[in-house]
Amino acid sequence: MLHQLIYASVRNSNCSDAEIKKILDSSNRNNGKKDITGVLLYSPTKFLQVLEGDKDLIVALYENIKKDDRHKNVIMISLKTISERHFPSWQMGSKELNSDNFSFITHMSDKERKDFESLFSGNDVGESIQLIRKLLK
Ligand SMILES: Cc1cc2nc3c(=O)[nH]c(=O)nc-3n(C[C@H](O)[C@H](O)[C@H](O)COP(=O)(O)O)c2cc1C
Repeated sequence: MLHQLIYASVRNSNCSDAEIKKILDSSNRNNGKKDITGVLLYSPTKFLQVLEGDKDLIVALYENIKKDDRHKNVIMISLKTISERHFPSWQMGSKELNSDNFSFITHMSDKERKDFESLFSGNDVGESIQLIRKLLK
C-alpha cells in the first residue's frame, strides 16, 4: 500500500552545496528504480524530506539515509498510508531555503510560518503536506 514518510534533520557543516547536489543525484538515480517520489527541502542548517512509495521501500531508504553523516538528529515526523502521491512528478524535487528564519516567506500567514518552523524542528503540525506545498510555490 502507498505510504508517505516525512522526517526532519540537522544539516552538518560538512554538507556543502556540492554535497547537496550529490544527494540529489543519488536520489534521482536510485528512487526511480524503487518507484519512490518526494521532495527535499534544505536550509543552511536543516533538512525536511518527504518520501512516498511502498512502505517497506521508503522505511528501508529512511533507515539508510539516517546513517548518512551529512546530517544528524534525524526525527521521523510521520509515517502513514496515502491514497495518492502528493509529489508524483518528482523522483526527488528540491527547494533551497536561503535562511533559517522563515520570516522571508511573504505569502504565508504568521500561523503558517510558526507551523513551518515547528515542522522543521521535527514536530507534526497536522497539515504538514499543505504547508510544504505552499513553500514550493
Ligand atoms: C538529507 C538526505 C537525503 C537523502 N535522500 C536520499 C534519497 O531520497 N535517495 C537516495 O538514494 N539517497 C538519499 N540520500 C543519500 C544516501 O544517504 C546515500 O548516500 C545514497 O543513497 C548512496 O547511494 P549511491 O551510492 O547510489 O550514491 C540522502 C542523504 C541525505 C543526507
